[in-house]
Amino acid sequence: MEVLYIALQHAHSGLRWVVLALLIAAIVKAGGKRRGGTVYPGKDKLALFALISVHLQLIIGLVLYLWLSPLVSFAGDVMGNSVTRFYTVEHLLGMIIGIALVTIGYSKAKRQAELNKGWKTIGTFYLIGLLVILVSIPWPFRNLGAGWF
Ligand code: HEM
Repeated sequence: MEVLYIALQHAHSGLRWVVLALLIAAIVKAGGKRRGGTVYPGKDKLALFALISVHLQLIIGLVLYLWLSPLVSFAGDVMGNSVTRFYTVEHLLGMIIGIALVTIGYSKAKRQAELNKGWKTIGTFYLIGLLVILVSIPWPFRNLGAGWF
């Protein structure tokens, strides 16, 4: 279990950069297309890959949360310790909201394809989702024991 924990922790930590890069790329693309007046195709590959990357983080995160991470706790003074509080409550809630925004944005845009509002929807929902995800990441300067990779 120890090996699996270390492997998933590293995968989850490194994947953050993939998530951030794909979200930013999808937002920039949506912004440019909107100004260019291009019709949303119903499914944008970049928006889809960004969606998949956050769902992958959700799955790995849930495995860490439910079975492997010693930083998640439901016993003792969970709220009094800033590290257990962060991983047990704040990181989970923030990321669920961020991932939900990206998911809603993608599926809403798909339905708006003919109305040509899709790019705007992707841009808006992904941007707010990205901001929520950014503030929910345990960046090293927040002293939560996590690294850059
Ligand atoms: C886009 C979504 C997410 C991103 C970018 C993200 C990012 C991160 C990062 C950077 C760490 C620190 C890893 C380290 O360096 O030690 C971390 C830890 C953790 N994340 Fe996430 N996370 C996401 C979603 C989730 C979700 C949805 C859950 C729970 C369901 C979750 C559960 C955890 C847990 C339990 C840890 C602590 C692992 C440990 O024991 O070190 N994450 N996350």
